[in-house]
Amino acid sequence: RGPEAVRADLAGRHVVISAGGTREPLDPVRYLGNRSTGKQGYALARAAVARGARVTLVSANSELPAPAGADVVRVGTAVQLREAVLKAAADADAVVMAAAVADFRPARYAPGKIKKRDGQEPEPVALVRNPDVLAEISAERARPGQIVVGFAAETDDVLVNGRAKLARKGCDLLVVNEVGEHKTFGAEENEAVVLASDGAETPVPYGPKEVLADRVWDLVAARFA
Ligand code: CTP
Ligand code: CA
Repeated sequence: RGPEAVRADLAGRHVVISAGGTREPLDPVRYLGNRSTGKQGYALARAAVARGARVTLVSANSELPAPAGADVVRVGTAVQLREAVLKAAADADAVVMAAAVADFRPARYAPGKIKKRDGQEPEPVALVRNPDVLAEISAERARPGQIVVGFAAETDDVLVNGRAKLARKGCDLLVVNEVGEHKTFGAEENEAVVLASDGAETPVPYGPKEVLADRVWDLVAARFA
């Protein structure tokens, strides 16, 4: 899209984006976390604002500057992210789950700092499953016609894994990234294929996360129309 084509094709729409990575506390000073920085989710939020949407950005532990014009809701854990996304999704036209949500959390939170003891092996950390937010919002659309988008970072059989994940999650679009040593986490650029529930595949060549963000909104806007 050239500058002459700056269109407000998301005007009048409310879109919800999750970004960043959840942190699951073990005790007051420690957590289980991941390397997500929030760059892709923040790029999606900026692009949606630019295209005229009302934007709720549910941000998990990202240090990026708040996108101008977006409502930012800050969360820490997967359970908090679920609450915030479900609340915002109630009147949303689209929900994009770009956050890296921890699959597991410690079964117990130690209210005091866990201490080591002389001559004693550490206790294993027991984990429990976190709720699957994407599967839940896909299964129970808060609005008829609400578009739900997931992200997946895959290795090995990237497209096969992506197709299976799209079916399992029940979302409309799944943005599949291939991850590797220098790919995706914290990078400025990435390469993806957007898989759609109707069978369509849209490759997005290696490039800035801003470009991928606009391609995702193109596909969402086409489904609104
Ligand atoms: N997701 C979610 N809730 C979770 C885990 C993941 O909403 N508890 C969302 C992510 O935000 C992302 C999508 O699901 O949009 C895919 O995440 P991914 O980790 O690739 O999927 P999983 O089903 O957890 O599969 P895997 O076992 O490969 O991690
Ligand atoms: Ca996962």
